[in-house]
Amino acid sequence: MASLESNPASPESPPIVSDEIIARGAQLLAAGELVAIPTETVYGLAADATNPAAVRKIFAAKGRPADHPLIVHIAYPDEIDRWGTEIPPAAWDLAAAFWPGPLTLIVRRRSNVDSVVAGGLDTIAVRCPSHPIAQWLLRELGRGVAAPSANKFGHVSPTTAAHVLAEFGDTLPLVIDGGACEVGLESTIVDLSQSTPTILRPGVISQTDLELVLGLAIGDPHANSTPCSGRLASHYAPNCIVEIVTEEELTSKLASLDASGRRVGLLATEEGSVRALAALPADRIVWLPSDAKLYARGLYGALRAADERGFDHFLVVLPPLGHPLSAAILDRLQKAAGPRDSRRV
Ligand code: TXA
Ligand code: MG
Repeated sequence: MASLESNPASPESPPIVSDEIIARGAQLLAAGELVAIPTETVYGLAADATNPAAVRKIFAAKGRPADHPLIVHIAYPDEIDRWGTEIPPAAWDLAAAFWPGPLTLIVRRRSNVDSVVAGGLDTIAVRCPSHPIAQWLLRELGRGVAAPSANKFGHVSPTTAAHVLAEFGDTLPLVIDGGACEVGLESTIVDLSQSTPTILRPGVISQTDLELVLGLAIGDPHANSTPCSGRLASHYAPNCIVEIVTEEELTSKLASLDASGRRVGLLATEEGSVRALAALPADRIVWLPSDAKLYARGLYGALRAADERGFDHFLVVLPPLGHPLSAAILDRLQKAAGPRDSRRV
C-alpha cells in the first residue's frame, strides 16, 4: 500500500519530512524495496544499487527494457570511484563544479558493479543530487541508489509526488513527498567514457557551462550511439498527440483540427501574439510562464494537464528561445511530439 507523506507544495515551501519517514525509506531500500524520492530535477524510483534483485524491480515497475541503463545516485562526489573506474580528470572537474546538482556523468563501470544497473553496458551513469531529502536518504542508507524517473517507460516524468501516484497508484511501498521539483527537467548527461566528452541529454547545466569548466568544445551528441531512453524519438510523452506549431500556423491548425472533431488544447506562454487567441475557451489553453526556468519547471505538469483535460491533440507554441535552458526544453518538447511507433516498450 503506497503512503504519500505530506502534501504537494512549491519548491519555495517544501513539505516537512520527518526523521521517521527517512528512516523508513532507508529501511525499505535496504530490504530491497522501491521508494519514490524527490530530487531537484524530477522524482526518482529508487532501489539499492548494490542489490540486483531490487534493481530488477525498477525495470519491472516501469516496464523499461533491461538494456536501458539506470543512473546511480550517490551522497558524496568522491563515491563516483566506487562505481566507476579510470575516471578521467574531466569527470573530477565537472563533479567539483556541479555536484551536488543536476549533472550525470558516464564513466567506465567497475567490474565488481553488477551489470544489471548499467543495462549490460561496461559504462555507468553516476549523479550526486542536491535535493536535501535525496541527500538525507542516501546518507542514511549509506550506499548508492539506482533511480530512473518515477514514471512508466516513455511517459512524462513526474515533478510532484502526486504525479508519481498518478503513474503507479498504490503499488509502491513509499512515496516521499518533497514538494514540486525545482528544475523540473532531468539532469544533463555527459559521457566521459570516450576520448571526447559528449552530451547525451541536455539539461539545466548547459553546453556552455560544461565547456567553460572543461576548457574545450564538447562533442556532437549525435555521434554517440549508446542506448539512452531520453534519445529515443518519442519519450516524455503524454497520451494525447503533441504537435509543435508556430504562431503563424496556429489559427488554421486549430480550425482544421476542430473541424475534424478532435478535442484540441493549446500550450501557450503568457507572452506574444498567442494573446490573440484569448477568444479560445479558457479550459482549452494551458498557460506556462515565459521565463525559461519557470517554463521548464512547469512543462511536465502542463503535458499531464493535457491528458487530464481530455485533449486528443495538444498544440504547443514554442516558448522564446535563446536561453541556456532552451536546448533542454526544445529536446523534451520534440520527444513529447515524436512519432509514437518509435517508442520501444
Ligand atoms: O534527473 C535525472 O537524471 C533523473 C533523476 C531521478 O535523477 N533520473 C533520470 O533517470 O532521468 P532515467 O533513467 O529516466 O534517465 C537516465 C538516462 C536514460 O536515458 C539512460 O539510457 C541514460 O540515462 N543512461 C544511463 N546510464 C547510461 C550509460 N551507461 N550510458 C548511456 N546512457 C546512460
Ligand atoms: Mg526517464
